[in-house]
Amino acid sequence: MHVLVTGGAGFLGQQITAALLASPGLPLGREGALEPIDGVTTFDVGPSMLIDPRLDSIVGDIADGAQVARVVRPDTALVVHLAAVVSGTAEADFDLGMRVNIGGTRAVLEACRAAGTVPQVLFASSVAVFGGDLPDVVTDATNPTPQSSYGTHKRIAELFVQDYTRKGFIDGRSVRIPTVAVRPGTPNGAASGFASSMIREPLAGVEAQLPVDPSTVMWIASPRAVIRMLVHAISLPADAWGWDRCLNLPGLSVSMQQELDVLHAVSPDAAALVRQEIDPAIAAVVTTWATRFDTARAKALGFLGDTDFASVVAAYIEDNPLAVK
Ligand SMILES: NC(=O)c1ccc[n+]([C@@H]2O[C@H](COP(=O)([O-])OP(=O)(O)OC[C@H]3O[C@@H](n4cnc5c(N)ncnc54)[C@H](O)[C@@H]3O)[C@@H](O)[C@H]2O)c1
Repeated sequence: MHVLVTGGAGFLGQQITAALLASPGLPLGREGALEPIDGVTTFDVGPSMLIDPRLDSIVGDIADGAQVARVVRPDTALVVHLAAVVSGTAEADFDLGMRVNIGGTRAVLEACRAAGTVPQVLFASSVAVFGGDLPDVVTDATNPTPQSSYGTHKRIAELFVQDYTRKGFIDGRSVRIPTVAVRPGTPNGAASGFASSMIREPLAGVEAQLPVDPSTVMWIASPRAVIRMLVHAISLPADAWGWDRCLNLPGLSVSMQQELDVLHAVSPDAAALVRQEIDPAIAAVVTTWATRFDTARAKALGFLGDTDFASVVAAYIEDNPLAVK
């Protein structure tokens, strides 16, 4: 079985690629039989940093339908579609966001349709599909009303995934991922990046900015939990998903003050490196996002989130010992 990971050189892309390569296989065979993964192709504007004889890293543009068609092979049983222009960048560059997030998703779905093999497509959506005047707790029945270009693109893509599934072109699944924190490495263009950098940078001895009010609450999941839940989303049989191919993943409601408190408990010196200075542009985007969810459907389907933010930080330190001073 061949797997394609778009955006495979990115943060979640590298992590899901490594997890898939380490797995004994996926239950995508006849009647849910476990099938080994013979090869994984990553497709991204940059190369994957992973090294594995089964890995083929292809550099290209997701919005170029001809290039995408070449990486969806007759034996491609799974496409993990992660390539995207993320929230801050999509808000700043409208044309780029449309081209990559809408054009790229269409290119992926059209290539899968043309393959004629009904591959599974797992799409990384986002809680940014929710915005504006929301109930205190967002449920599976809450109407997504995105208030950003990024959230709008994600909602449109979810509907594409649903309709291509309805037409029998793919076996689609969309999962709305909470803000992933603590994210290692360097920030991408996500407006939510401070939720990670205000922990990551101080732990490395570097100053970080908190650009929103400390009372700001975000819906967060750790990298470990997100990768575990992406693999679970892939492994669930189509019947378990039923007609509705989109769901909200479990997460934690964490205020930035709670993040500061956890950081302080780990290292008071690190906590002293957080500089509070509101950035109106970031605050304007982030404060429209939903902060509390009831993820009953995901939980009933066996998706497991994190338990508490202190454990999230402990896992970050364990997984990234060289990034901590
Ligand atoms: N990390 C989060 O907090 C979070 C939360 C919700 C949803 N998501 C979604 O998960 C996915 C992965 O996120 P991530 O955090 O790994 O982000 P990331 O920025 O690290 O990865 C996205 C990847 O897409 C690639 N890409 C951008 N334009 C491209 C193009 N034209 N052609 C091919 N590749 C292109 C980038 O090079 C990058 O490697 C994205 O779709 C994102 O919207 C992430």
